[in-house]
Amino acid sequence: MARAPVPASTLADTLGDPRATPDIEWVQGLTGASRSAVMAALAELEQHRPLEARIRSLHQGAGRPFYAQICAPFELYALTRLARPMEIVETGVSSGVSSVHFLLGLQRNAGGRLHSIDLPSREGTSPVRLPPGRATGWVVPSNLGLRWDLHLGPSEAILPDLVKELSSVDLFLHDSHHTPEHLAFELGTVRPRLHPGSILLADNTDWTGTSFRDFARSLGSAVARRRDSRLEGFRVPRTRAARRPATSRRGGHSVARATRTR
Ligand SMILES: C[S@@+](CC[C@H](N)C(=O)[O-])C[C@H]1O[C@@H](n2cnc3c(N)ncnc32)[C@H](O)[C@@H]1O
Repeated sequence: MARAPVPASTLADTLGDPRATPDIEWVQGLTGASRSAVMAALAELEQHRPLEARIRSLHQGAGRPFYAQICAPFELYALTRLARPMEIVETGVSSGVSSVHFLLGLQRNAGGRLHSIDLPSREGTSPVRLPPGRATGWVVPSNLGLRWDLHLGPSEAILPDLVKELSSVDLFLHDSHHTPEHLAFELGTVRPRLHPGSILLADNTDWTGTSFRDFARSLGSAVARRRDSRLEGFRVPRTRAARRPATSRRGGHSVARATRTR
């Protein structure tokens, strides 16, 4: 019997990058959800087709023929819907494609916060540098800002204090400075707030040696690579993992909010 088409596959074209066609099995492996549950979460994105088109046109208007960032924005949405994280931490924002999809998931969940850290890049020829007149997160619609704490600066300086303010890190994405040392630093920093069920993701793992794999192994897990990409992830297993801290500060903590200059 023919399989149903993958939801959000045509959204990938709307967003302007066929690489974004979701990898259902990868999300299943990270969440333990059934194929139909992943398909249902991804199908919710259909209502956001106008937003995906707008993100594409904003990038094109800023001289970016492609969006050049995370290859799996729709999976980030599905992971957020299925794992229902209360605290998401991401390093590396650029225009904000990953942030938008986390925030859409949190909005639909009606709970949780996204804490993003970005050291804006303005110089050089990197495809992720900010176009003139644009600030970090410039494709994130303002109505999604309610659940968003955006911190501007190097994660080396910001992540340690941020993590101390959080009772848990339920979902973490590394997409900032891709060296083995920097990734190891970020993972070691969030480690005390991980718990069984926390999901960790790292992009461009071809550039970060064995850091991600080694960290997963130290928690008794193994990484899974997203199809046709350098994005990997794993879930902290029920055994050998850091225990969830007993006291929760969710809803009551206060994290310094960087001034958004959009
Ligand atoms: C690949 S882009 C992030 C793309 C983003 N996740 C998305 O989906 O649109 C990497 C970003 O990390 C920033 N960055 C580089 N080094 C950093 C550091 N040490 N701390 C925080 N952000 C950093 C870069 O300037 C850039 O904005």
